[in-house]
Amino acid sequence: MMHPDLDDLDPRPQGEPALVDALGRPLHDLRISVTDRCNFRCQYCMPKEIFGPNFAFLPRSEILSFEEITRLARLFAARGVNKFRLTGGEPTLRAELPKLVAMLHEIETPEGAPVEIAMTTNATMLKHLAQPLADAGLDRVTVSLDSIDDATFRAMNDMDFPVAMVLEGIDAAAAAGLGPIKVNAVVRRGVNDHTLLDLARHFRGTPHIVRFIEFMDVGTTNGWRLDEVIPAADLVAQLDAEFGLEPLEANYAGEVARRYRYRDGAGEVGFITSVTQPFCGTCTRARLSADGSIYTCLFAAGGTDFRSAMRDGASDEELGAMIDALWRARTDRYSELRTQATGDLQRVEMSFIGG
Ligand code: GTP
Ligand code: 5AD
Ligand code: SF4
Ligand code: SF4
Repeated sequence: MMHPDLDDLDPRPQGEPALVDALGRPLHDLRISVTDRCNFRCQYCMPKEIFGPNFAFLPRSEILSFEEITRLARLFAARGVNKFRLTGGEPTLRAELPKLVAMLHEIETPEGAPVEIAMTTNATMLKHLAQPLADAGLDRVTVSLDSIDDATFRAMNDMDFPVAMVLEGIDAAAAAGLGPIKVNAVVRRGVNDHTLLDLARHFRGTPHIVRFIEFMDVGTTNGWRLDEVIPAADLVAQLDAEFGLEPLEANYAGEVARRYRYRDGAGEVGFITSVTQPFCGTCTRARLSADGSIYTCLFAAGGTDFRSAMRDGASDEELGAMIDALWRARTDRYSELRTQATGDLQRVEMSFIGG
């Protein structure tokens, strides 16, 4: 049975069977990782001990070409995907990224509507890339910024990048029309929680939307501990006490963030409650890794290899049938099952398939 909230979003003409997974969830978002590299070494994502000078990143030959990415993206759009999100690693490190955006921009939904193109980035390259990306058809960016306190931020990215560089990137994105810009902060107790009210305060009164993310146990290298997670409800209470908040309706069925506005009209904030209130029930996301595998969950142990199929000469019909079969069989709901004994499973690293 189709999830009631998602029913009206199904793009197929009436009468055609909808592509839904085994739990009734349609396919609406494709998150496309364009590189497994990053210029940051956030300890929760790419800790230096593992992602050091000797770490074997993907060789060029194993990374999908723009043509291969675009081909798969088109097949996904034909099946209900109405949003592409470029991720990494850090997507702006991929050479000639605007060229890929221009290619993706040509893809339409079955109704002839454009597919939205968003990107999650650390913003360090946006000063020069925001305008070319916007010109190529990028619609908006989400910027990762875990703290507005310079010392805390430099320590968290572990490469000594200053806050000012990220703010410059955000300004460039705003000037290029890539808003509304979302600013994502992963919250870790004892690491950046003392700086979060300042982060909110900094962006109050701007059109940018700060979103606080509960620290998740992604991958196996990030040293996750439940006691480092600050429940979003605690943060809502803190921000409410400081600034005054009221809840807003979701923008679309399946939106990940819970939205609030400042009572005094100074803008919007969001909370992503992946740990305390999982949202698997409305999860419509598929992920394409830089080396061409599709993952049906952020916490999946493995993906399905589309690169080999493409390079072995599979037709569009065959690739489309692979997508259909994969999605129809999908039962993932890791976050909802987290409380069960899953701690020792092998899991893909977040830096590999993008947040
Ligand atoms: P928009 O609503 O289009 O702005 O995007 P989004 O909120 O879906 O995407 P974004 O990349 O900004 O997601 C923010 C964070 O939410 C990610 O960095 C993850 O930490 C978390 N997140 C996003 N998608 C998932 C998901 O499918 N599962 C889980 N568990 N967490 C997710
Ligand atoms: N928990 C929550 N979010 C994470 N991200 C990366 N690792 C984690 C984690 N363990 C998100 C961050 C980052 C994006 C690329 O992925 O928001 O900005
Ligand atoms: Fe890079 Fe983002 Fe991972 Fe930090 S969280 S290491 S910026 S991909
Ligand atoms: Fe979707 Fe998996 Fe995240 Fe649940 S844990 S919301 S199924 S990606």
